[in-house]
Amino acid sequence: MYTPVRIVSGMKVVVVPDSDAASQFAAGLFVDVMNSARQRAGRAVVGLATGSTPRGFYAELVARHAERSLSFRNVSTFNLDEYYPVSPFDDRSYRSYMQRHLWSKVDIEPNHAHVLDGTVPEAFVAAHAAEFERWIEADDELDFQLLGVGRNGHIGFNEPTTLSVDEALRLRTRLVDLHPVTRADAARECGGFDRVIPRALTMGVATILSARSILVLALGSHKAEAVAAALTGPITAELPASLLQSVAEKVTWVLDEPAAGALAR
Ligand code: GLP
Repeated sequence: MYTPVRIVSGMKVVVVPDSDAASQFAAGLFVDVMNSARQRAGRAVVGLATGSTPRGFYAELVARHAERSLSFRNVSTFNLDEYYPVSPFDDRSYRSYMQRHLWSKVDIEPNHAHVLDGTVPEAFVAAHAAEFERWIEADDELDFQLLGVGRNGHIGFNEPTTLSVDEALRLRTRLVDLHPVTRADAARECGGFDRVIPRALTMGVATILSARSILVLALGSHKAEAVAAALTGPITAELPASLLQSVAEKVTWVLDEPAAGALAR
């Protein structure tokens, strides 16, 4: 079926009826990028996201793997973020999320799947964050980055800030405090507000924006306002997703109709 692509602020925007269609469309784009990177360079380097949004996307990748149309051979993955501190054995950790939703169900090689380490002592966090960036660089940078968007417009855990746009565009991987909206939204997946870990390690804005292609997936009416502001509002660090406009030509948004609800038709 033909799905129309709109251009908004220089970015491609695809709107499909519901979250299943969005997950399938996003999975199709991901597989295309992965396959062309493997053809070009012999391997693909992809940035992955967590949260409720990509669950259907991962289910679709797992289904394609099960029917043998998709393999993760010669694929390296780098996750966007991880709570801090957290043990990989903790269900709230994004490492355990990835294990549950993807890695235990596909043929990825364990030493090719990278997540920031929530157990690093605080004195070594900056060195670990720099090391994570070096791993990405050593893999010749990300071919693809999957992003969700927070209700407050965050990408990864790059939260709204009063920094200038130039300063925000230079942010690298680091330890951050979570925004109150992010903590409230994380309560469901963490098993209650009291169990939300209030800090996290996140890939920086600069790291994310240097990926060769970026796919933003947003589902549900609770994302509509942030999506419309990021696509059509000013570029501002107070809404980190709007910073994607600065690399518009490599960004594709995949939205279900409720998430596109605040965009002009
Ligand atoms: C989470 C993650 C982000 C994610 C975003 C949206 O907390 N750290 O990487 O994209 O916030 O979350 P959700 O998909 O659950 O709405």
